[in-house]
Amino acid sequence: MWVMSQMKLKHKAVLGLMVLAAAVLLCGCKMSPFYNPVAEESDIDDDEENLIVVGISQLGSESVWRSANTLSIQSAISKENGYFPIYNNARQKQEKQIKAIRGFISQRVDYIVFAPLVEDGWDTILQEAKDADIPVILMDRKISVEDESLYVTRVGTDARKEGEKAGYWLEEELARTDRGTDDINIVVLQGTRGSSVQIDRTAGFYFVADKHENWHILEQVDADFTTSKGKEVMEQMLKKYQDIDVLMSQNDDMTFGAIEAINDAGLTTGINGDIMVISTDAVYDALLKVKDGIINADIECNPEQGELVSEVIQKLERGETVKKEYIVDEKVFTIDNVDQYLDTRTY
Ligand code: AHR
Repeated sequence: MWVMSQMKLKHKAVLGLMVLAAAVLLCGCKMSPFYNPVAEESDIDDDEENLIVVGISQLGSESVWRSANTLSIQSAISKENGYFPIYNNARQKQEKQIKAIRGFISQRVDYIVFAPLVEDGWDTILQEAKDADIPVILMDRKISVEDESLYVTRVGTDARKEGEKAGYWLEEELARTDRGTDDINIVVLQGTRGSSVQIDRTAGFYFVADKHENWHILEQVDADFTTSKGKEVMEQMLKKYQDIDVLMSQNDDMTFGAIEAINDAGLTTGINGDIMVISTDAVYDALLKVKDGIINADIECNPEQGELVSEVIQKLERGETVKKEYIVDEKVFTIDNVDQYLDTRTY
């Protein structure tokens, strides 16, 4: 259990210094579209001394999903809500993320929230945070560490389940359309190699695929969660394989690029198309494509985790015990149910 009163005292003493350091930390990098400027030292009034200081390390801005996740955490961890956020975007580099976390430790923040780029390589920096008595909350992805006490909790998604849902959706769809025993050629576009979501979505999908001898995974390729890579990689796949039946894509951005490549090759996607498309994330533009029958199914990955992170911090502030993991709610969207969710989609 983390002793919060101790931290409050500590942070009051260093707040002024820290704002300066935050400005230094931030001016080295380009700001995200959702970045809220950090106050100047002179802007700090007495009330701000009671704010809870949170260092937030976001892994990058590679996707629409990521922007929504950044907006979610920045809206929840805000001055209006009693926090003093110090935000850093690591731009897809683990070493930048480690550097940012080390910066938060030397600024003696009250909490560190971070979305880890990859699963491995965090033991040393998190030990430093633990030694400094700073509770670490993981957001979005998982990490693999020897000592699980190096982080307090994780607020994120169940990527393994997302992969399984993609597999089960395909299983049902093939059975429904009397293709349950047909040979089915599948290409998998994977996200950032070594990230927990890439590892878990792949494992989940394979778990179902392995039950079907007639499903042939032609190739699983890294497209780094971006539209440009998705297009580039899909172009290569289309040149290599003449008979792709299914594209399973681990995020919507890659899907958008892949659909472009498929269309450029004179082929169509989705319901009644040449290639079935299963995507992941379920951002608004992808849901529109589900509605139009261009994407067959979209497995939701919910980026709205900020409120839950804030709730966890408030529990810790009150000295309450928190669970080791909080998983956000996630659905599967198809043409049959998408209409009821489109109007309320904010990202
Ligand atoms: O970790 C969540 C994944 O990261 C999302 O699926 C993807 O779009 C993002 O970049």
